[in-house]
Amino acid sequence: MLIARNRIFGSPDVVSIEEAPIPIPKKGQMLVRIHATTVSTGDWRLRSKNVPKGYGIIMGLLFGFKHPKYEALGTDLAGEVVALGEGVSKFQTGDRVVSNLGMKLGGHAQYRLLNENSATAKIPIDISYEQAVALVFGGVTALIFLRDKVKLKKSERLLVIGAGGAVGSSAIQLGQLMGAHVTAVCSTEKVSAVTELGIKDVIDYRERSWLTEMDKYDVILDTVGTITFEKIKHKLTAKGRLGLVVADLPTTLRNIWISLTQSQKVFSGSISENENDLQFLLSLCKQKKFRPLIGTTLPFDKIVEAHRIVESRHKLGSLVLAVSR
Ligand SMILES: NC(=O)c1ccc[n+]([C@@H]2O[C@H](COP(=O)([O-])OP(=O)(O)OC[C@H]3O[C@@H](n4cnc5c(N)ncnc54)[C@H](OP(=O)(O)O)[C@@H]3O)[C@@H](O)[C@H]2O)c1
Repeated sequence: MLIARNRIFGSPDVVSIEEAPIPIPKKGQMLVRIHATTVSTGDWRLRSKNVPKGYGIIMGLLFGFKHPKYEALGTDLAGEVVALGEGVSKFQTGDRVVSNLGMKLGGHAQYRLLNENSATAKIPIDISYEQAVALVFGGVTALIFLRDKVKLKKSERLLVIGAGGAVGSSAIQLGQLMGAHVTAVCSTEKVSAVTELGIKDVIDYRERSWLTEMDKYDVILDTVGTITFEKIKHKLTAKGRLGLVVADLPTTLRNIWISLTQSQKVFSGSISENENDLQFLLSLCKQKKFRPLIGTTLPFDKIVEAHRIVESRHKLGSLVLAVSR
């Protein structure tokens, strides 16, 4: 099988496609032939070791200091179950599945083993592999931030910064589904894509700054990493919440103190993968209430180009790689 490896950390050029044996499922495992995966901002951070301040040592311990400990990057996959290990009962060969690998990685290959109890769900018949895989990284992050961290409520005002990215394009749609009044902040190039997702209130940050306008928000979700609580607290209502999808370790620690001592709260931190959130997003997608935004689709052998696009920090939605056909 083909697998994309980076034997050192560095620029997109450190990634190359190599041959490797197809793995054999052990007890409780299934083998998936991958049809689609994404190059996510998580992949970019791990490949380039560009992690927020304070996380370098933790990342080094988990993923290697000099050489990557992982076999391949790839935070998600969608594909077909082609072989089962002993005792697997939840899935059958032929099932179309999508999996949130998260920091376990390994989606950038033609095959991967999955434990049957991993964050994996069957894909409904009318959803493509590309759509399914595109809802994972941004969709699950946005869902957990809005539902579990900032606890967005009906009729609240939500501002999403970075609304054209993978997390942002999911957050604006989920925010609207949760009954909030959504304002999206993005660049000129992304205004039409964001509007097509049903958002009427869009601020083109190249034209005007949301910071200097009068409006206040119950929830601000920053997916870019350009703001601090101190800078924007006047834009939050008295019990407003700030969700920082990107935050360094000192900020994350300071957020705990702010949340303990003030009526306004700040939330950051990581998210964890589970099957239920995938099922939930797939069901929204099936009902056409949620549309994972795909900015670019490239074949697997264009993975270096894909990494370059993601590293630009200005991609639209998810970047999908089409793998085996
Ligand atoms: N906490 C967690 O567990 C977690 C989970 C997932 C992701 N993340 C992090 O969340 C971040 C976003 O991820 P993503 O996959 O959504 O990234 P993405 O798809 O690259 O989107 C980022 C968006 O930010 C916008 N942007 C860039 N500079 C901007 C600026 N100055 N002002 C406003 N918008 C700006 C870009 O659009 P424009 O072209 O419109 O500027 C782009 O669409 C990444 O840093 C990622 O590492 C954290």
